[in-house]
Amino acid sequence: MAKKLYIKTYGCQMNVYDSARMADVLAPLGYGPAETPAEADMVILNTCHIREKASEKVFSELGRLKVAREERRAAGGDMIIAVAGCVAQAEGAEILRRAPAVDIVLGPQTYHRLPEMVARASRAASRDAKGRGILDTEFPAESKFDHLPAPSETGAASAFLAIQEGCDKFCSFCVVPYTRGAEFSRPVAQIEAEARRLVASGAREITLLGQNVNAYHGQAPTGAPNGAEWGLARLVRHLAERVDGLLRIRYTTSHPRDMDDDLIAAHGELPQLMPFLHLPVQSASDRILEAMNRQHRIAHFHDIVGRLRATRPDIALSSDFIVGFPGEGEADFQQTMDLVEEIGFAQAFSFKYSARPGTPAALMENQVPEDVKDERLQRLQAVLNRQQTEFNRGMIGRVLPVLLEKPGKHPGQIVGRSPYLQAVHCQADAAEIGRVVDLRIDGIGHFSLSGTPVESSAHPEAAYPQEAVA
Ligand code: 5AD
Ligand code: SF4
Repeated sequence: MAKKLYIKTYGCQMNVYDSARMADVLAPLGYGPAETPAEADMVILNTCHIREKASEKVFSELGRLKVAREERRAAGGDMIIAVAGCVAQAEGAEILRRAPAVDIVLGPQTYHRLPEMVARASRAASRDAKGRGILDTEFPAESKFDHLPAPSETGAASAFLAIQEGCDKFCSFCVVPYTRGAEFSRPVAQIEAEARRLVASGAREITLLGQNVNAYHGQAPTGAPNGAEWGLARLVRHLAERVDGLLRIRYTTSHPRDMDDDLIAAHGELPQLMPFLHLPVQSASDRILEAMNRQHRIAHFHDIVGRLRATRPDIALSSDFIVGFPGEGEADFQQTMDLVEEIGFAQAFSFKYSARPGTPAALMENQVPEDVKDERLQRLQAVLNRQQTEFNRGMIGRVLPVLLEKPGKHPGQIVGRSPYLQAVHCQADAAEIGRVVDLRIDGIGHFSLSGTPVESSAHPEAAYPQEAVA
């Protein structure tokens, strides 16, 4: 009988990508998607450790799953419970100790080993003398990308493709170098093959993913000199040239240190590279950037933005900010506020600093009180929200090429994305999904725009033979 799998994903797009890969790995074992955890034969919590309370959320979810499993057992069924992702990597043994209901704990590097772990967990004798579940440290971690199956054909118009994983930057607040490990780049040929498969299954936009994506340095394809590596710009040019039907390329998340000249130039040259960049700055105070071990100064950030705008004048910027990093004084924070006013962001994410166990900043003595963090976050978010609204309002009356992605909530409604990553609603035929259409923007809501199709197709993407692609 077909079995059902429920994956609950927390955190970043890399986790969303990984969850899809875990589902692909388990499909040959007969697992199909479940609508709810209660009806699932296996539940995976794909966890995030980047900010506070993540592990507490996981433990309370595990409490609920234990009850759900007891109900299934009473009805003659069962449920395998697995915890994956960065909390699993950071606190694996602790999870098994505190939550004996858990059958499998696995970090991001061993997803391709899931079938073996599931086979073991299905045997009653799989637990150790203390009755604890399986920890993936018993399973050697090779490059998972060499072992994962090809992504299943979802038919989605916009898809993610992981090209890089891990990080060597060691920002003093961040757990990623510990949970995701050292920086690793997939070979160009592997990425190209995956991109082709995604486009063949309907993708028109691909977002290249990596924790530090612009540090990408992957093995060049055959034909290049032995041992040669390509950077992100070279990879993007290659995909833009070689993958027919790929209309849009994005990449995330970048580090200012790795925004090299070639990548900046690519933004001015490639119509497929969308005029939107998420470039976390964290703070605008050099003193705080130094304490964060960010390896860049604020003058460098201004320089990058200046050059990007010279190359691609309509580029829209997004960023991440942390307020209340240890030692941040009012003057430091004011520099961040000034930077925001000066640059102008189309959207941004901002967070209160949260001490992550095991990171250097967690041990710094000059921690900022919670109420000060709260107050700064409110001030920062007020400006960022205003800028986002202004940016969206500036679209009214303009014609934007929108990639139509999926049906909206209302009958006849389709939702797509502008080049600047704004969600745009319109009335259109479902057959239009997967096409880039010109919409005249005539309304803005809280988080989205609405538009009406116009006849002419003057945007560069229209030059691509959209129907010719399978
Ligand atoms: N506290 C608050 N925010 C953090 N981020 C990463 N670590 C922390 C932390 N300890 C934020 C950064 C990063 C984003 C993904 O999460 O802004 O860019
Ligand atoms: Fe974390 Fe810094 Fe690496 Fe980004 S660059 S993943 S913030 S250590």
